[in-house]
Amino acid sequence: MDPLLETDWTEHWRRLVEARQAQASSFHDPRYWDKRARSFAAATNDRRDGFLELLEPWLEPHRTLVDVGAGAGRYAAPLADRLDWVTAVEPSQGMRDLIPAKENMTVIAADWELAEPAPADLVICCHVLYGTADAPAFIAKLEATAVERVFIQLRHAQLRTPSDPLWELMTGTARARQPQFGDLWNLLEQLGIRAEVGVLEYEGFQSWADLAEFEEEYRPPLASAWNEARAAAWVGENLVEEAGRLVYGRGRGSSGVAHWRPRR
Ligand SMILES: C[S@@+](CC[C@H](N)C(=O)[O-])C[C@H]1O[C@@H](n2cnc3c(N)ncnc32)[C@H](O)[C@@H]1O
Repeated sequence: MDPLLETDWTEHWRRLVEARQAQASSFHDPRYWDKRARSFAAATNDRRDGFLELLEPWLEPHRTLVDVGAGAGRYAAPLADRLDWVTAVEPSQGMRDLIPAKENMTVIAADWELAEPAPADLVICCHVLYGTADAPAFIAKLEATAVERVFIQLRHAQLRTPSDPLWELMTGTARARQPQFGDLWNLLEQLGIRAEVGVLEYEGFQSWADLAEFEEEYRPPLASAWNEARAAAWVGENLVEEAGRLVYGRGRGSSGVAHWRPRR
């Protein structure tokens, strides 16, 4: 079999998402993001990853944008200062609470699959598709909503948070991986989407105010598999204290951004 030409990349993507969800389903669950919102914002709000610079050629004061899965608004808020109107679609209340208020921003509290935003010049979707089993339908809606350009950002490699190592430690089984940029690229090719690609490189890390905040985020997904002694040992070996916060996983990360003019 020719792996590139004969793989059904839609099914491949679905299998990745479903295998991970069968172990522990969290990415698509707004309650997971409610708990993770503060540490996600602390890790990413000040990250300089080059995404806004990549958008620069398309930013004009009369243009509009939809940010799909806007999280705590690290892109939506600064983009509102450069554009006529921004619509942030975000299903997690915890994340929405952290989005800075802007006079020219609407926040829609819904999954993308159910949201009904007006068409916009630009549609961005950053680090959201990892938990979407039906990626082609999700991408088709991004494309149908965009007038000028669609941008999808995903990591080149796997997530570097305590979530997977803790899951493996507590359950004794390997964690199924998330889709990553290479999977997206093959899928887009098979869908007939000829995208351009930007590469973003950045310094990444995770941090928490204290152990209680760390546990509040990582204990619920593991439920009864959580083991106090193992958790304490893991924390002792892997978290370091920096400026009064607990920090994990400092290192370089990179993401790909596929972007294209919507087909009509
Ligand atoms: C990793 S965060 C990324 C947030 C933001 N795009 C960023 O890069 O900072 C993923 C976000 O996607 C949201 N999300 C997950 N599934 C979604 C869906 N089906 N539709 C819209 N948003 C979704 C989550 O609530 C979460 O806020």
